[in-house]
Amino acid sequence: MISKMKVYEVQTGSTGLDGLRRAERPQPKPGPQQVLIRIHAASLNYRDHMVVMGRYFTAVDRDTIPLSDGAGEVVDLGPGVTRFKTGDRVCGTFVQVWKDGPRPAQGQALGVPADGTLAEYIALHEDGVVAMPRNLSFEEAAALPCAGVTAWNALMVAGRSVKPGDTVVCLGTGGVSMMAVQFAKAAGALVIVTSSSDEKVQRAYKIGATHGINYKTHPEWDKEVERLTEGRGADHIVEIGGAGSLPYSYRAVGFGGKIALIGFLAGAGDPNPMPLMMKAGSLHGIGVGSTRMFEDMNRAIEANGIQPPVDKIFPFDAAADAFRCLASRDFVGKIVIKIA
Ligand SMILES: NC(=O)c1ccc[n+]([C@@H]2O[C@H](COP(=O)([O-])OP(=O)(O)OC[C@H]3O[C@@H](n4cnc5c(N)ncnc54)[C@H](OP(=O)(O)O)[C@@H]3O)[C@@H](O)[C@H]2O)c1
Repeated sequence: MISKMKVYEVQTGSTGLDGLRRAERPQPKPGPQQVLIRIHAASLNYRDHMVVMGRYFTAVDRDTIPLSDGAGEVVDLGPGVTRFKTGDRVCGTFVQVWKDGPRPAQGQALGVPADGTLAEYIALHEDGVVAMPRNLSFEEAAALPCAGVTAWNALMVAGRSVKPGDTVVCLGTGGVSMMAVQFAKAAGALVIVTSSSDEKVQRAYKIGATHGINYKTHPEWDKEVERLTEGRGADHIVEIGGAGSLPYSYRAVGFGGKIALIGFLAGAGDPNPMPLMMKAGSLHGIGVGSTRMFEDMNRAIEANGIQPPVDKIFPFDAAADAFRCLASRDFVGKIVIKIA
């Protein structure tokens, strides 16, 4: 008899939250070099909301299990697995499979186009799985695969990496930026956070930010960065706004500084790259990261006692509420769904 598992699916062609439906699927069996993971917690990223709304490039063309990020326990092994044993606490990686070096063109992301983690079980190739940091709960570890690895890549891998005394500017108080605050702080940097809300800035201080700028009351936030750095500008900017905020980032970055281009939340804009050129700065595109980066990050998380900033945890039955919360922007850090 085939065992069934509980999942959510984004229905084919979904353009709204009513396209997120509960369903049953056959429990997967691990194939060669695959591990079967009982997922205990999954987390949301901005991308997951776009997928349900049909705005992540295009609407999904088949019923798809959403979410890229999850953490759980290995409960079965396919033939030939050498990296894991049953009982190991693990996370899946965002791209299946990107071990190291440049991302392979054929690697598929979980949550779209591949089925994701909002399910009781998932079978993944062992090279697309990492051991969880030992100091984390499943809920905390579920925050890592996309937001954590993206922040780690942006600050520690792509281009120049953060060194003590650097100034790191993190835009907004979402998942990627709040993970970046923690890594920058652990590396000895001074961290400036921008936000739409003074209340969120206060919460970012608790996560590790040194300074906060409300970009509603200070729309030209680059001038505040200049003031706070006494004219030096930022060494790193975690850019989640894209075209709409790049004009400010180009002005806020200091000589030889790096802008890690990650997201596109700030809408349209007309960025003039001249200030970047004049300051010999760099603009570095980021696309999450590899299994190797994930493992390096996890060592840093353990060594520094970092705990990902989980703001809200929803039960599996209330997954739609978790998506609503993400859309409301009424959170700081990460939103998690507990699965079992
Ligand atoms: N390239 C990659 O590898 C990669 C990886 C992960 C994420 N991303 C992208 O990076 C961006 C951030 O992702 P995330 O998962 O960290 O997001 P998130 O957790 O949903 O955080 C969103 C936060 O960003 C701020 N924000 C500023 N302008 C916004 C706007 N117009 N709409 C919504 N939020 C806005 C808000 O914080 P305040 O209210 O404090 O301003 C909001 O709470 C997204 O564009 C995402 O697609 C890219």
